[in-house]
Amino acid sequence: MTEAVVSIKHLQKNFGKTQALKDITFDVQPGEVFGFIGPNGAGKSTTIRTLLGILRATGGSATIFGQDVWRDAVAIHRRIAYVPGDVYLWPNLSGGEAIDLFLKLNGQKHDARTDELIKLFELDVRKKCRTYSKGNRQKVALIAAFATDAELYIFDEPTSGLDPLMEELFQKQVLALKQAGKSVLLSSHILSEVERMCDRIGIIRDGKIVETGSLADMRKLSRTNITVVTKQDAAAVAQLPAVHAYAPASDVANKATFAVDSEQLGDVISFLSAKEILSLQSTSPTLEDLFLRYYETEGGNGDAQ
Ligand SMILES: Nc1ncnc2c1ncn2[C@@H]1O[C@H](COP(=O)(O)OP(=O)(O)OP(=O)(O)O)[C@@H](O)[C@H]1O
Ligand SMILES: [Mg+2]
Repeated sequence: MTEAVVSIKHLQKNFGKTQALKDITFDVQPGEVFGFIGPNGAGKSTTIRTLLGILRATGGSATIFGQDVWRDAVAIHRRIAYVPGDVYLWPNLSGGEAIDLFLKLNGQKHDARTDELIKLFELDVRKKCRTYSKGNRQKVALIAAFATDAELYIFDEPTSGLDPLMEELFQKQVLALKQAGKSVLLSSHILSEVERMCDRIGIIRDGKIVETGSLADMRKLSRTNITVVTKQDAAAVAQLPAVHAYAPASDVANKATFAVDSEQLGDVISFLSAKEILSLQSTSPTLEDLFLRYYETEGGNGDAQ
């Protein structure tokens, strides 16, 4: 197996008595877009700041390119590009000067690609940074990051201030990075963004990783909603362990809705077939269903496993 680009093992970070990170373990493989999602205050930015060597971990380990994120921060920074959610810029520089300064700090030069990105993101680079809106400040940081030839790109909620067209453009640029074999770690609250771009996802809650895997894997762990009408009484389906939230319809005989653990769907359908199915509708869980379960209940309540 190739070496992971990012490798985090049992990472912990305390701020005084606050345990911001309790147990974070995940990795990012070469050429992969890894989505990092979780509710506000879960610890995404703290994890990312620790990876960048801005914060020192209290426990556990984190490496990028096999190097320690704290000890070898300088060497690592030559090979990564980072965009935070809140971009602070030098107020007296113009946007163009800020982009060039970011590039210089990363050992890169303004080139045709930089000009192309400025045009694509429709940024007026002549304006002073202090006059920029939140979205425009983000554009400055994004242009500088995409113009940087890095091996790993880290984005911490980079699109929170962007309009839908710019969001679309951001996604295209990330997919282009992926096609070029780059690795990306992206924290986001925008589920459609995560669904469209990420190969694997880590869900963080209350300082702990509660799930990692591909979306397909996660869907398997989730439930399918069923509405069924049978010829014979099929109420006993409610006794099957894979069936949840069974609710018979009050208006139609032998009609019911319930949720089924997706992996056991076949068994439940067989059971229903024996009762002669008259109609059956099934809806796959949406990404929102999936994540809300993790967001709302403590670690999925052990129920999601
Ligand atoms: N410098 C700090 N000092 C004290 N507590 C902090 C500090 N930075 C973060 N925290 C706490 O650590 C926890 C995790 O915060 P973090 O910013 O990592 O969350 P997040 O997942 O990025 O949330 P969001 O989605 O809102 O950006 C929170 O309880 C926060 O209050
Ligand atoms: Mg954050």
